[in-house]
Amino acid sequence: MAPIISIRNLTKIYANGFQALKGIDLDVEKGEILALLGPNGAGKTTMISIVCGIANPSGGTVLVDGHDVVKDFRATRAMIGLVPQELTTDQFETVWNTVSFSRGLHGKKPNPAHIEKVLRDLSLWDKKDNMLRQLSGGMKRRVLIAKALSHEPEILFLDEPTAGVDVTLRKDMWQVVEKLREAGVTIILTTHYIEEAEEIADRVGVINGGELLLVEDKSALMAKLGRKQLILELTEPLEALPRSFAGNGLALAGDGNRLVYDFDAQDEQLSIAMLLTRLGEHNIHFKDLSTQQSSLEDIFVALVGGAK
Ligand SMILES: Nc1ncnc2c1ncn2[C@@H]1O[C@H](COP(=O)(O)OP(=O)(O)O)[C@@H](O)[C@H]1O
Ligand SMILES: [Mg+2]
Repeated sequence: MAPIISIRNLTKIYANGFQALKGIDLDVEKGEILALLGPNGAGKTTMISIVCGIANPSGGTVLVDGHDVVKDFRATRAMIGLVPQELTTDQFETVWNTVSFSRGLHGKKPNPAHIEKVLRDLSLWDKKDNMLRQLSGGMKRRVLIAKALSHEPEILFLDEPTAGVDVTLRKDMWQVVEKLREAGVTIILTTHYIEEAEEIADRVGVINGGELLLVEDKSALMAKLGRKQLILELTEPLEALPRSFAGNGLALAGDGNRLVYDFDAQDEQLSIAMLLTRLGEHNIHFKDLSTQQSSLEDIFVALVGGAK
């Protein structure tokens, strides 16, 4: 199946000469949840703005369901819902009007039943007649989500949706995302909360300094870059490792009280059974054993740190 979003050699140079995107290539499959991870200033919002047609690319192409986002703005914009990073809404408008109006802006016929459903899903129904300025920050963010869903988009962009929101809203939001996923909506979210990406995404892209460093299946990424460690708490501290263990991913830690065995998630230099047997032969005993696997966060830090 053709990807629903296809980005080729996308560049963006702002008016002041700053290059925010340096040749991005990315395909997004229909129905997937893609998390774009990257530190502040990586270019996430710039990229999203171009796909959504609210900023112009300097070079390259972006196709949404086969339509060019510049030449065929109306067709592509109609398919996309955007929850922007910044809170920008008319403070003197009511929740109901803001959300209904947003549907109209996307060229859809009024559908009060749909607007009601969206507001109910986001626990905004009892606030429908309130003016936006009367709402808390978290409620305003819910309104942004409601606006993005008002026209039943096939693709939803969430730009740092949970930055600075409370736990309840975060949970509500992920419930809404889950429902949308079940309905087949393609979701692209940016975040610098790695746990979030780890929890919710099918694929993860890492962006830094205007470059997409990688895009991988979350589990493949973990398997490829993730490292596993076996940690043995020794009965007696060791002064040094026996020489025959050198170069096998073994290290002493905790003043010689702990043996740490680093092994690749995929290819183990020395099987654990073999290691334990050999430790026994050297009269090295342990009282406790645990394993640890690197998280997406470790991988992210390693990647982004290494790219600087
Ligand atoms: N209008 C602009 N003019 C000049 N530089 C900009 C503009 N908007 C964003 N930038 C710069 O482009 C880079 C990427 O910004 P942005 O896309 O907002 O990153 P992110 O969303 O990943 O934090 C940053 O260095 C930012 O300062
Ligand atoms: Mg941003």
